[in-house]
Amino acid sequence: MVKDKLNILMASSEMEPFARTGGLGDVTAALCKRLAGMGHEVKMFIPKYKSVYQTGIKAKPSGQNIDIKIGEKSFRITWETYTDKAAGFEVVFIVNDDLYMRETIYHDSRTGLDYPDNDERFILLSRAALEITKKINWRPDIAHAHDWQTSLITVFLRTMYSGDPFFEKTRSLLTLHNVAYQGSFDSSSLSKLNLNGEAEGRTRAFKSGGKVNFLKAGINFADIISAVSERYAVEIQTSREFGFGLEQTLRNRNSDIYAALNGVDYDIWNPATDKLISPNYDADKLEGKAKNKKALLEKLGFIKPKEKITERRPLIGTISRLVDQKGIDLFLEIADDILGLDVYMIALGEGEQKYATALRDLERKHPDNFRAVIGFDNKLAHQIEASADIFLMPSKYEPCGLNQLYSLRYGAVPIVRETGGLADTVSDYNAQTGEGVGFVFKNYSSDELLEACCRALDLYHDENAWSALVKRGMALDFSWESSVNTYIELYRLALGCDRESQKTDTQEVVAT
Ligand code: GLC
Repeated sequence: MVKDKLNILMASSEMEPFARTGGLGDVTAALCKRLAGMGHEVKMFIPKYKSVYQTGIKAKPSGQNIDIKIGEKSFRITWETYTDKAAGFEVVFIVNDDLYMRETIYHDSRTGLDYPDNDERFILLSRAALEITKKINWRPDIAHAHDWQTSLITVFLRTMYSGDPFFEKTRSLLTLHNVAYQGSFDSSSLSKLNLNGEAEGRTRAFKSGGKVNFLKAGINFADIISAVSERYAVEIQTSREFGFGLEQTLRNRNSDIYAALNGVDYDIWNPATDKLISPNYDADKLEGKAKNKKALLEKLGFIKPKEKITERRPLIGTISRLVDQKGIDLFLEIADDILGLDVYMIALGEGEQKYATALRDLERKHPDNFRAVIGFDNKLAHQIEASADIFLMPSKYEPCGLNQLYSLRYGAVPIVRETGGLADTVSDYNAQTGEGVGFVFKNYSSDELLEACCRALDLYHDENAWSALVKRGMALDFSWESSVNTYIELYRLALGCDRESQKTDTQEVVAT
């Protein structure tokens, strides 16, 4: 008999408002909140990074320690708990200042390189989450891991803890938010898992291209796997372009791979109530959006304070991590063409230096209508969504994408490439039928991107058609309700997984 209310162990390297580099942090926070709202008992395990200290949060110390061995080294952790009353779930901060108290989450900001001990940092997170549940005698029904940083939880449950009666009934789900990041480490990392020969005997389940690959191991050992959109669930199994070398491993698990589309937390991303924008507005009061736009154009120095806007000139916005995935190179190829048109544009983001530099150069070249803001600025992100007429998201691949969903709700018409979650959530405008909520282009080509931009800019000057398009997008609902139910279904499926029959399955998995 499967219980009605589940104990759900969540573990992630990111969760808003404590640690975030991208959508993962938004999604884990919103998902935990929804599950708790349905009466499930959720505990989210994340490291106590410097950013957590900086929030000034008063978490409750457990007063207990656990020593965890990683290879020959022993790491002492303690933990602190915090329950946000409104969110209704407990956050368990894993404390080890040597490993987690650093300037940024994954890499050294001075060198731009990943921390060399990221293997140990995230082995520790995965082990600590499991060890703490034992210590506090809280039996998880489900262990829900996210991406490579916590995927080892699914491995440990089926190896190190497989004979442990405490976890006898615990089943795992691994959610794939981005298969390009795999946690790939030198072979010597295998012994850090302390699987006493178990991993060494099954190296093909753990290794890819001669390296230890945490995500691959997780994919092989998780009871159930999910991707963050239907399209992405298929894409990652079909080619190297999306599977980044794990496509065969994923195909082997084909019958256990499902999709649960990310939802939007409309408590945070709703132009009618958003406290970070002014004024608030909805589809019936689009003048409010125009006022946001005017304020932002002033702030960016594109127009003078109090200047009256007479012409209809669109503002294009983009908010993105500055990494290859996001199609910034594509935009840069045609940036001069776009900025040569009658448009304003703002780009917000942080990431790779080469993109930051290129965007700054572009601003120097087009001071009258282009601004690059390098960094993460949550308030500005909300203001851009509220002000922009058009939102650019030409990703090379996009597991789900959240900004296009925020844009739809804020009436910023998205221009996206037909991939992953973008393909699943943005339909192309069709002039004949008057359907569609954005502009979609197929191939990763700057010509196609430019063509999509021109189609959007043309339509922008047809005021009625444009406003109908904006309103269609604003009416769409990507709330968590349906996604959270999908996750519950996946948990139930996982709970139905029979350990005995899985023993033979794992042998097969390992043989690939
Ligand atoms: C990653 C993906 C993005 C997805 C997010 C949350 O950041 O790149 O597409 O929306 O995870 O799942």
